[in-house]
Amino acid sequence: MKHLSLFSIIVVIVLGTSYSDAFTRKDFPENFLFGAATSAYQWEGAVDDDGRTPSVWDTFSHSNDRDNGDITCDGYHKYKEDVKIMAEMGLESFRFSISWPRLIPNGRGAINPKGLLFYKNLIKELRTHGIEPHVTLYHYDHPQCLEDEYGGWINRKIIEDFTAFADVCFREFGEDVKLWTTINEATIFAIGSYSEGISPPGHCTPNKFINCTTGNSSTEPYIAGHNILLAHASASNLYKLKYKSKQRGSIGLSIYAFGLSPYTNSKDDEIATQRAKAFLYGWMLKPLVFGDYPDEMKRLVGSRLPVFSKEESEQVKGSSDFVGVIHYMTVYITNRGPAPSLFPTSGQGFFSDIGVNMIPIGNASLIQWVAIPWGLEGVLEYIKQSYNNPPIYILENGIPMTSSTLQDTPRVEFIQAYIGAMLNAIKNGSDTRGYFVWSLIDVYELLSGYTTSFGMNYVNFSDPGRKRSPKLSASWYSGFLNGTIDIASQDITQLQSNFPASSSL
Ligand SMILES: *[C@@H]1O[C@H](CO)[C@@H](O)[C@H](O)[C@H]1NC(C)=O
Ligand SMILES: *[C@@H]1O[C@H](CO)[C@@H](O)[C@H](O)[C@H]1NC(C)=O
Ligand SMILES: *[C@@H]1O[C@H](CO)[C@@H](O)[C@H](O)[C@H]1NC(C)=O
Ligand SMILES: *[C@@H]1O[C@H](CO)[C@@H](O)[C@H](O)[C@H]1NC(C)=O
Ligand SMILES: *[C@@H]1O[C@H](CO)[C@@H](O)[C@H](O)[C@H]1NC(C)=O
Ligand SMILES: *[C@@H]1O[C@H](CO)[C@@H](O)[C@H](O)[C@H]1NC(C)=O
Repeated sequence: MKHLSLFSIIVVIVLGTSYSDAFTRKDFPENFLFGAATSAYQWEGAVDDDGRTPSVWDTFSHSNDRDNGDITCDGYHKYKEDVKIMAEMGLESFRFSISWPRLIPNGRGAINPKGLLFYKNLIKELRTHGIEPHVTLYHYDHPQCLEDEYGGWINRKIIEDFTAFADVCFREFGEDVKLWTTINEATIFAIGSYSEGISPPGHCTPNKFINCTTGNSSTEPYIAGHNILLAHASASNLYKLKYKSKQRGSIGLSIYAFGLSPYTNSKDDEIATQRAKAFLYGWMLKPLVFGDYPDEMKRLVGSRLPVFSKEESEQVKGSSDFVGVIHYMTVYITNRGPAPSLFPTSGQGFFSDIGVNMIPIGNASLIQWVAIPWGLEGVLEYIKQSYNNPPIYILENGIPMTSSTLQDTPRVEFIQAYIGAMLNAIKNGSDTRGYFVWSLIDVYELLSGYTTSFGMNYVNFSDPGRKRSPKLSASWYSGFLNGTIDIASQDITQLQSNFPASSSL
């Protein structure tokens, strides 16, 4: 007996050190949601079908002579097959977005009946299979006609049009949709699209890295950010007034959250990191929770930062039932200097305003990174401690791979480590309620087209039928969800040896 308990202690210690990530689905609350994500432009394809008009993303991908989402994995035509894949994986939730120009082709006014039918069918198919839909209203894709008419997010007119689009979605889909995200990764959307010019609609001040056709990196990210917050609040308040009591859903804004850690333990790097947190998290979270921008931002951005009127501040404050967190990578922060930075901007823009370098860990770049699970734990802790512990959904997390192999062991290790990190934060009080892997299947990627893929299911993009095949990560995730996988690191080996030999491509 004595020997036996000594043995168990040793086992526990060994597991505790080398498998500190040991967990099962049962360690999470039953109503916690595990799922996977896609977005409309990246998954649907069918850009000219059934009355859809171009979004700014169509324009952006075609104007830059890069890959595009014209067909991608053809989710528009293959949604039933994809829901079947989800059901076979045991997914609890599916996150997708609604294409504004598919639903309302002119940006405002008439609804496209075929677009409406597509989303109704998709939602019905999900419900039939017991999969909870999590719907994002905006994912980089407002109708090009609104960009042409008034400049999209840099004009306050977008608030009214976005709210009317949201109203249609709540009215038509709200019976069956209980989880709504208004705007996808709002922070990096405003930065990437209006300061750096790397995402649609691709605005920036022309510089030695990129010549945008329009934009002003020192002013537009803040104007777009302000309109994003007001549009989110307007849609959210409409939901609360008109739908919530009947439909009983919740609605939130999502931000992209880098893990941020000081480069050295110097006071300077510590202060630089606080500043980075104010700009990269507080910019959106402080208005949502406390009704105004962080003081550091007001001081450093000055008159370029829009000011909330008292009424706007009241509308924005408390307008997010939860915080959506999109998390992929962690960077070290130091004062701006010659060290390498993830965003090496020249001229004035968002990053020169923060005055920090973001130093990639390992050889990370914007399209490739390594697993730093403590970075996610830090983000969740910080939001808990600084913003009154709001409910959180991790709406995207995952890792790109370049090799086309079904044996995506690094992805399995990555996802498992991050779920473990999230569990640590939950055990320490974080109100995190869901986790979505990006992505369900290989799709057209925002920054890397088809050169890297994040999918748990492989898509053969050379095949006109866009055949899907499950990767190792799909089996791992379903095993975790159905409770047959617990101490995961150990079971990967098992799973790998069970994985069909024909699985190498
Ligand atoms: C952008 O345009 C300027 C002025 O025409 C030119 O000097 C610069 O090399 C261009 N930059 C890029 C990245 O093409
Ligand atoms: C950007 O806008 C500011 C404020 O209107 C202006 O002072 C500045 O010259 C503009 N920059 C560029 C490159 O157009
Ligand atoms: C980073 O890249 C350099 C040069 O490409 C390579 O020599 C080095 O091994 C890489 N380091 C890591 C940690 O991958
Ligand atoms: C756990 O939460 C407490 C209270 O918010 C905090 O002080 C502590 O630093 C957290 N622990 C970790 C490991 O983050
Ligand atoms: C992808 O599809 C093409 C065309 O049908 C086919 O020739 C190729 O073998 C497929 N590749 C894989 C890895 O299945
Ligand atoms: C659980 O999932 C694994 C991996 O997909 C599968 O092999 C197994 O049959 C499933 N077990 C049950 C009980 O559903």
